[in-house]
Amino acid sequence: MGSSERFIRTKLEDRRTAGIYRTLKTETGLVDFCSNDYLGFARSALLKSKIDEELKGETSALNGATGSRLLSGNSVYIQNLEKKIAGIHNCAAGLIFNSGYDANLGLFSSLPQRGDTIITDELIHASIIDGARLSYANRFIFKHNDLNSLEEKLKHAKGNIYVAIESVYSMDGDTPPIVDILDLTEKYNANLIVDEAHAVGLYKFGLIDEVLKDRVVARIVTFGKALGGHGAIILGSNLLIDYLVNFARSFIYTTALPFHQLAAIKMAYELLNSSSDEIAALKNNIHLFKQKINQGAIYKLIASDSAIQCLILNSNDKAKEVAAYLQSCGLDVRPILSPTVPLGSERIRICLHAFNTENEIILLTDTLNKLTNAG
Ligand SMILES: Cc1ncc(COP(=O)(O)O)c(C=O)c1O
Repeated sequence: MGSSERFIRTKLEDRRTAGIYRTLKTETGLVDFCSNDYLGFARSALLKSKIDEELKGETSALNGATGSRLLSGNSVYIQNLEKKIAGIHNCAAGLIFNSGYDANLGLFSSLPQRGDTIITDELIHASIIDGARLSYANRFIFKHNDLNSLEEKLKHAKGNIYVAIESVYSMDGDTPPIVDILDLTEKYNANLIVDEAHAVGLYKFGLIDEVLKDRVVARIVTFGKALGGHGAIILGSNLLIDYLVNFARSFIYTTALPFHQLAAIKMAYELLNSSSDEIAALKNNIHLFKQKINQGAIYKLIASDSAIQCLILNSNDKAKEVAAYLQSCGLDVRPILSPTVPLGSERIRICLHAFNTENEIILLTDTLNKLTNAG
């Protein structure tokens, strides 16, 4: 056995022993309480037919982008789409990336420089952590949604300061006090960056509205969640976008999205604009879940008004056990284990959707409530 094979075997064995070995699973056929398809766009026949129509209207479009945006992969279509999406979000400009991961990697690795400081909420998404790691800036972490902790870090920050938050946290589903955070960052002349990945959909075009838009340096919107597709856009000033085109390596050194995905993004935005029924259905389902679920003896429900509802179970084994039980009852709920979440906050993460029926939600809450009563 070569040294690299030995290393791989040991690492995998360690994971197995710790009970956190990851494997890929295919569709389960169970009731979906785990996908990010909050409004049902990924499975929408209407969206599919809109995309088909758009594709038919662009007969000269190629199957693939053929190159990076700075070489052969650019088009009038993508540039118009960027302008259109920026306009929808009341922003001066936007730049499409191949995924939210790429967008955060490109932004956080290129904008903060050596001597600058990146301050992130302790629950910030891995893509922002990875982007910050690739930059030469210092990185501070503040306690989740804790203004005192943020201020403590701001006091010690040097150079240009960038504070990163999510408007709906992917792992807890809660929303930070955005206005208070903005007031604080402005007091210290820091720049706020907001990842809107899980806010778009439930809050239509996100939580950074007309009033707040000029106070944030950049926003990240992903297309793979409520919009049902793939890709992401960074929204900001024309100057920021020009900077990213020149310095964001995850934008520069990769083949651009293919035309059919751009068409899917464009049509998903059209659909979102007229999706008040789906948004209302999602809100109803969130309300129903919260009304029916008991605060459990064996878990703690994290306060959240979003489609992401989490029950903290404190150990990987317990989280896996509860998820397996829910799956055996026909409900596709997944455990989120450490190290993805901090040790002691292992959980089951329930994603609610516009398309979940009342019966499905009641089956879920009844099953969880029974489990709690059984201790
Ligand atoms: C908050 C947040 N930002 C960024 C991403 C990455 O987006 P994408 O899946 O498009 O790479 C995710 C996805 O998990 C996310 O939850």
